Amino acid sequence: MHQEATLIATVAVSFVFAAVLGYVADRLRLPPLVGYLMAGILMGPFTPGFIADTGLASQLAEMGVILLMFGVGLHFSAGDLLAVKGIAIPGAVLQIVIATLLGVALCSFWGWGLGAGIVFGLSLSVASTVVLLKALEERNLVNSASGRVAIGWLIVEDLAMVLALVLLPALAELLGGHASDALAHGGGLPLPLTIGLTLLKVGAFAVMAVVLGPKVVPWLLTLVARTGSRELFTLAVLAIALGIAFGSAAIFGVSFALGAFFAGVVMSESNLSHRAAADSLPLQNAFSVLFFVSVGMLFNPAVLVKEPMAVFCALLLIIVGKAIISFGVVLLLRYPVGMGLTVAGGLAQIGEFSFILAGLGVSLGLMPQEGQDLILAAAILSITLNPLVCFAAEVAHKKVHKKWPHLYDGYGRKRLDMLGRELEKNRLLSEEREREHQLEMQKLVETFPLFAEVDEHSQEELLLLFRPKSALPGERVVRKGDRGDGMYFISSGAVEVRVNGGPVALEAGSFFGEMALLSGGRRTADVIAIDFCQFLVLERRDFNMFSARHPALRAAVSEMARERTEMNVMRAKRAKQAEQHEPSTES
Ligand code: CMP
Repeated sequence: MHQEATLIATVAVSFVFAAVLGYVADRLRLPPLVGYLMAGILMGPFTPGFIADTGLASQLAEMGVILLMFGVGLHFSAGDLLAVKGIAIPGAVLQIVIATLLGVALCSFWGWGLGAGIVFGLSLSVASTVVLLKALEERNLVNSASGRVAIGWLIVEDLAMVLALVLLPALAELLGGHASDALAHGGGLPLPLTIGLTLLKVGAFAVMAVVLGPKVVPWLLTLVARTGSRELFTLAVLAIALGIAFGSAAIFGVSFALGAFFAGVVMSESNLSHRAAADSLPLQNAFSVLFFVSVGMLFNPAVLVKEPMAVFCALLLIIVGKAIISFGVVLLLRYPVGMGLTVAGGLAQIGEFSFILAGLGVSLGLMPQEGQDLILAAAILSITLNPLVCFAAEVAHKKVHKKWPHLYDGYGRKRLDMLGRELEKNRLLSEEREREHQLEMQKLVETFPLFAEVDEHSQEELLLLFRPKSALPGERVVRKGDRGDGMYFISSGAVEVRVNGGPVALEAGSFFGEMALLSGGRRTADVIAIDFCQFLVLERRDFNMFSARHPALRAAVSEMARERTEMNVMRAKRAKQAEQHEPSTES
């Protein structure tokens, strides 16, 4: 097939197969993701019929993971991350250590070396973000305390895997593998230096994410939103998400997904985050489907026939072993049973990181190819079974609640309440910010009924375009004969327009300065503040752009300008007549 057509074919066939099988799965009362996985298996190299490009598919899947993590970040404040650290960090670390030890034990039973055991164990210890989020979303738990803990836990796991990916090549020889070109990572440096360098890079990334990000990203978004182009805004959101993901992977060596997650967290500080979330959602959905398809493609069903026992053991470790560990850790840290069950169910699967680790392990000669096949088989089965596991956890949850209400209500309550309060505080804070923003828009329309004509999006845009300005009583705001630089909306105070036939007073809610902008000519009158005034100024360029896109608004402003001109002409006429009249009465 044409090189150019491969990408299109992969995407097109993936979508078609996934849509059809996802629908079939839904009709069979199975989660659609089982259909997506089946689509992948059908398209993969191990089944007859159409064979898609596996390399391309896995890159597309990575896009899915990036966009998804970005979406998670958008709904996750930095405060939330800090709130769950007390349980997420020890939980994830303990789980990784215990699961890896179990993996090592299993491998030594199969006669594999320590290196293989470590790679195998690590691969089984880290869960897939995509799968966890789908599970949480389905149960409406993403924003619950348990959901937050599970996501935070996964972030820590991801961070640990980033470290593992960097360290494995450096440690390969020590663990019985061969040093590979991947050692270029460490540049052949001594081990402590490699570790130090990695930590330094991750630290530098964290500093960038925490210090620079919250300033730069919202600023960039506002800048683009001010253009009023929705297309450009969506593009900017994607550019920031993918740009940070790629940049952080290239510069700091952290994973794409982690970079994207922090891009989301940083963006969540902006008033425009809800728009960013809505804009990127369709792409997130589409690409997360590709993730499941590509997992299916990597799967070789033959391993199920060749090594059923090994697959079963790996699966047991992932589903039962990991669930028991995470459940135990949650209880040990004095959090409630319900949270333990949610976290245990959500994390009892493996995914994207496991494939990467397994691939690296094989390429470093640490683990036999068989190990990778096993991991893939275990991944696909654990992902397929995950909805069932989560359901079982839910049932267990209800049973515990019914049978031991004491235990349910008492154990871990204190910690949960504390965590709940912290998360609630963060939620209220962001809600408060959102409310303030809404109030500001409401006030805008109340003060200037003119803006009721434009939709909410455009009102939001106006808030971004306006520059605040103030004036003292007696101060000249606009000088007759000057070039028009902007249009003024009076939010408080009053001004006097000095026109022929006596001044005209304008109060809060009125505007001035439109004539010179509409005509492209000079200011027609002096405007003087007669009170402490606050204005919202729309600069000439922004006025032209905004009014071009809102003809009704432009017409209303033009109509006002026309009336004012007419009034001025009349007043001038009258003034002239009065002048002519005066000398005759005198004589
Ligand atoms: P511009 O000519 O740009 O600058 C002076 C402004 O005064 C003018 O736009 C109008 O907005 C305002 N202005 C002029 N004439 C009147 C009027 N008769 N009543 C109210 N405002 C006026």
